[in-house]
Amino acid sequence: MITPVPIPHLPGFSSIIVEGHQLRGHPCLEQLQITVNNAFREGEHDRFPSIEHVITTPGVHGRCCVVFRDGDVDMTSPVATAMIKYYNPDVGVDPIRIIDRNGNVVNTSEFTKSEPGYDSEPADFLSITHWEPAAVAILSEDPSLKKLGLAVYCVNQLEIDLLRRLSEARRKRPAVPDIQNGNHGLQTTTGIRNLTFWIRCKEHAVPYWERRGYGLVQKKVYPKGVWGSRTELNIVTLKRDVSYS
Ligand SMILES: CC(C)(COP(=O)(O)OP(=O)(O)OC[C@H]1O[C@@H](n2cnc3c(N)ncnc32)[C@H](O)[C@@H]1OP(=O)(O)O)[C@@H](O)C(=O)NCCC(=O)NCCS
Repeated sequence: MITPVPIPHLPGFSSIIVEGHQLRGHPCLEQLQITVNNAFREGEHDRFPSIEHVITTPGVHGRCCVVFRDGDVDMTSPVATAMIKYYNPDVGVDPIRIIDRNGNVVNTSEFTKSEPGYDSEPADFLSITHWEPAAVAILSEDPSLKKLGLAVYCVNQLEIDLLRRLSEARRKRPAVPDIQNGNHGLQTTTGIRNLTFWIRCKEHAVPYWERRGYGLVQKKVYPKGVWGSRTELNIVTLKRDVSYS
């Protein structure tokens, strides 16, 4: 089992970064599902309806960060978590309306078509340029855990880990056509590559992500009942450009 690493600026807490399949059978798995579901609770909807959803959400190329108290040597009780995953904007339900950042209603079919990532996670890690920090949560039952920076630590660590893995994969990769940068010749192993990080959240969380450099893209309004909501559900999308070499 992966040994937790102490968080230097948060004494008493340690974290792990794992692949989805490494969560299978991990002692934290059941509580991780409960922690995220409680943090996101909206009506009867569960963010992770089953254990299998927790394991499969990061896909093959994504990762999950989990924070434990140092005293929790068996790692059964996560206190904060986040995932990073391939961004796929399709939530399986069509929105009623899409509103752009200027407050204008957008033609749904045209707007959604212009978004990336409707297909399943690409097999080629390096071809993925759209990523989503997701299931970012703090144990909601313990108010003393709020505003310590635990959630933002998880997201930052996942970003650092992702960029390191991408740089490493790029160095090891044989030269191929570099279509992303408009270069259909051979890809070099030097130069800057651009990614987009996407956040989908409820409206109240927008300032939290704006403080972390994300800019508002649009708001999608889903019908009552989606994800157990008792009223129309507003999901806001934000994004941030990220580069690595
Ligand atoms: C989103 C959520 C995790 C944020 O909780 P939180 O306690 O505010 O978040 P963090 O653990 O990142 O703490 C950040 C705060 O800690 C404080 N802080 C203290 N030390 C810090 C440090 N070293 N680094 C960063 N922040 C620090 C800051 O004041 C910061 O608040 P700010 O946003 O006003 O700058 C929580 O509200 C939640 O679980 N929500 C439900 C699920 C959800 O909506 N998730 C987001 C969509 S994926």
